[in-house]
Amino acid sequence: MMLDDIEDVLVVERDAFQMPWIRQAFMNELMKNPFAYYLVAANQEQIVGYCGIWIALYEAHITNIAVLSSHRHQGVGRLLLQGMIRRALELEAISMTLEVRESNTDAQSFYKTFGFKKSGVKKGYYTDNCEDAWIMRLAFS
Ligand SMILES: CC(C)(COP(=O)(O)OP(=O)(O)OC[C@H]1O[C@@H](n2cnc3c(N)ncnc32)[C@H](O)[C@@H]1OP(=O)(O)O)[C@@H](O)C(=O)NCCC(=O)NCCS
Repeated sequence: MMLDDIEDVLVVERDAFQMPWIRQAFMNELMKNPFAYYLVAANQEQIVGYCGIWIALYEAHITNIAVLSSHRHQGVGRLLLQGMIRRALELEAISMTLEVRESNTDAQSFYKTFGFKKSGVKKGYYTDNCEDAWIMRLAFS
């Protein structure tokens, strides 16, 4: 993801999430966070998805993954996550974690196809409705 991509990424973000990140959040990630890696998926010129991770102390953490609703179920999310797992392995991460809403069974199913397993719960993690987050984890070895 480059700074020029942010406008299009915001379209994906607003389409995908109840509490979308704002422009400044992406700018901070790209310009100020040395632990952050962001990928976009594009169909011709159109950005249809993105994924971000932070990597520190051999742990990779997915900050977000989203695909435009009109482009889901076509393997875009799989490509993005595969790309990030490759990147995490290159940087010697030993596992990958994420938080996902308890009600987001679609995303949970998606992560399970990669071998992610529920490893804990963060009570009331989401501030908009106090929903719990599942912590899901994939060990690389
Ligand atoms: C989760 C998300 C990124 C998946 O993207 P996608 O491009 O639709 O996923 P893919 O087409 O690559 O799917 C890969 C596999 O995951 C599983 N999967 C994907 N969506 C699924 C769903 N809605 N229900 C059940 N399984 C699903 C399937 O096994 C699929 O393989 P298949 O197509 O061969 O059956 C997308 O649904 C999304 O953007 N959701 C909204 C944002 C979000 O909730 N992000 C996660 C935040 S924690």
